[in-house]
Amino acid sequence: MVLLLTSALTALLFTSFVSASPARVEKRDPYPKYRIAPKVFIFSMFDPEAEIWWGIPEFDILGRNVTVPGFSPLFPDAHCTANGDICQLVTGESEINAAVTIASLVASAQFDLTSTYFLIGGIAGVNPEVATVASVTFARYAVQVALQYEFDTREIPDNFTTGYIPQGSTRPDQYPQSIYGTEVFEVNDALRKIAVGFARTATLNDSAEAVAYRANYNTSDGLYAAGAEPPSVVECDVATSDVYYSGKLLGEAFSNYTKLVTNGTGVYCTTAQEDNATLEAMLRAHAAGLVDFSRIIIMRTASDMDRPYPGEAATTNLFWANQGAFTPAIQNIYLAGVKVVEGILGAWGTTFEQGINATNYVGDIFGTIGGTPDFGPGAIFEDDQASLSRRGVGRRSVKRGTQMKGRRGYVYHLGQ
Ligand SMILES: *[C@@H]1O[C@H](CO)[C@@H](O)[C@H](O)[C@H]1NC(C)=O
Ligand SMILES: *[C@@H]1O[C@H](CO)[C@@H](O)[C@H](O)[C@H]1NC(C)=O
Ligand SMILES: *[C@@H]1O[C@H](CO)[C@@H](O)[C@H](O)[C@H]1NC(C)=O
Ligand SMILES: *[C@@H]1O[C@H](CO)[C@@H](O)[C@H](O)[C@H]1NC(C)=O
Ligand SMILES: *[C@@H]1O[C@H](CO)[C@@H](O)[C@H](O)[C@H]1NC(C)=O
Ligand SMILES: *[C@@H]1O[C@H](CO)[C@@H](O)[C@H](O)[C@H]1NC(C)=O
Ligand SMILES: *[C@@H]1O[C@H](CO)[C@@H](O)[C@H](O)[C@H]1NC(C)=O
Ligand SMILES: *[C@@H]1O[C@H](CO)[C@@H](O)[C@H](O)[C@H]1NC(C)=O
Repeated sequence: MVLLLTSALTALLFTSFVSASPARVEKRDPYPKYRIAPKVFIFSMFDPEAEIWWGIPEFDILGRNVTVPGFSPLFPDAHCTANGDICQLVTGESEINAAVTIASLVASAQFDLTSTYFLIGGIAGVNPEVATVASVTFARYAVQVALQYEFDTREIPDNFTTGYIPQGSTRPDQYPQSIYGTEVFEVNDALRKIAVGFARTATLNDSAEAVAYRANYNTSDGLYAAGAEPPSVVECDVATSDVYYSGKLLGEAFSNYTKLVTNGTGVYCTTAQEDNATLEAMLRAHAAGLVDFSRIIIMRTASDMDRPYPGEAATTNLFWANQGAFTPAIQNIYLAGVKVVEGILGAWGTTFEQGINATNYVGDIFGTIGGTPDFGPGAIFEDDQASLSRRGVGRRSVKRGTQMKGRRGYVYHLGQ
C-alpha cells in the first residue's frame, strides 16, 4: 500500500515535473512514417469540377479522405483512392483560395509529393479567335493578366487602346518594368504534348445549345473561325484574373498582354481565376524540394466565350446567353482528364516515375528554380544556370543591376 502510494506520488511528482519542464514537452513526429505518395494529384477549383470525378468506373477517388489544415473550409479534405495512387483536392475559387490551399497541401506532412504529377483540371472562358466552347486546352504559359495598372475606360488617354497598362510602364504595349514574380509561369512542354496525346483519345461531350451558340461566331471575316469549329483538344495558354471579364476589347487587351509578357510565344485562349496562384505555390514548393515543378499539367475546358459574337452585347454574352457549354465542359474535364491519369499510371514504371525531361524553360519570370527564362528581362539570381533538377535551393543572391523599386515590386533595368 505504502509502496503503491509512494509510486503513485512519484508518478504524480514526475508528471508535474514533466509538464512544468519545457524541455520534456512531448514532440510529435512531423513526418509520419507512412505518407501518401500519389502518382497523380487532380486540382479542382469548385464542386462541379470535383464531383465529375466521383462515382466513375475507372477508380474510386473517395476511397480515403484526408483532412488537411489550411484547406478551404468548404473543401477541408483531400480525396484519394484507397491505395493513394490518385488524389484530388478542391482549391476554392480565385487566386487567394488557390494560393492558400496549394501552399497548405505542399506543407502538409501527410503527403510525399516529390514524384507526383499534378493535373489542374478546371473550366474556363475561351477566346473564340483560338478555340471554342467545350474544347479541352492545355497551357504552356499561365499569365496573370490583371496584375497591371488600370484606368476606367472613361479616363484613358485617347491614344491608349486599353485601360490596362503593365506595371511600371506608361504605355499599354511596354514590357512591365515593375515585376512581382507571378506574372508568367511556364510549364513542361514535353509533358504537355504527351498529355495532349492522351486527351485526344477521348470522345468529347457537346450539347445542342453549344452547337447553336458557336454558329454565331461563324462570321464572313473569319475572325472567330476557331470559335465556330466543333470542340477539340487545343494547345494554348491560360490567363489568370480574379476579375471575371467579358468583352472583345478586354479579351484583345489581355491577348496582347499575354504575347507581350511571354515575348511573343504565348497564345491567350482561356481565362480562369486560379492558375497563377496555384503555380506560385508550386514554384515555391519546388524551391523547397517538396514538389517537381516540371510535373504540372494545366488543362482547362471551355465553358463559355470570353467575348460576344459580332452584334451581341458583352453583357448578353456574360449574363443572359444560353451558351450550353457548362455541362459539356465539366464532362470533358473527366472524359479527357481520365485519359491523362490512365496514361500516366499505365506507363508509370517505364516513363513517368523518372520524369519527363523538359526541353523548354520551366519556371517563373525570376528564374527562381534555375535556368534562364525565355521571356522577360532574364533571371534575377546570380546562379541562373542552376539545373532544374537541383531542388531545395536556399537563400539566393540577387544579381547586381536589379534594384528594388521605391514603391511596389522589382524594377528591372532592361538591357543592362
Ligand atoms: C469521403 O468524402 C466524400 C465526400 O465528402 C464522401 O462521400 C465519402 O464517403 C468519404 N469517404 C470515406 C472513405 O469516408
Ligand atoms: C500565370 O501563369 C501562367 C501559366 O504558367 C503564365 O503564362 C502567366 O504568365 C502567369 N500570369 C501571371 C500574371 O502570373
Ligand atoms: C499618347 O500620347 C502621349 C502624348 O502625345 C505620348 O506621350 C504617349 O507616348 C502616347 N501613348 C501611346 C500609347 O501612344
Ligand atoms: C453529353 O453528355 C450528356 C450527359 O451525360 C449526354 O446526355 C449526351 O448524349 C452527351 N453528348 C455527346 C455529344 O456526347
Ligand atoms: C460557316 O458558314 C459557312 C457559310 O455558311 C459554312 O460553309 C461553313 O460550313 C460554316 N462553318 C462551320 C464551322 O460551321
Ligand atoms: C492589341 O494590339 C494590337 C496590335 O498592336 C492593336 O492594334 C490593338 O488595338 C490592341 N488591342 C487592345 C484592346 O489593346
Ligand atoms: C533526363 O535527364 C536526366 C538528367 O539530365 C538524364 O539522366 C536522363 O537520361 C534523361 N531522361 C530521358 C528519358 O531522356
Ligand atoms: C523580352 O522582351 C523584353 C522587352 O522587349 C526584352 O527586354 C527582353 O530581353 C526579352 N527577353 C527575352 C528572353 O527575349
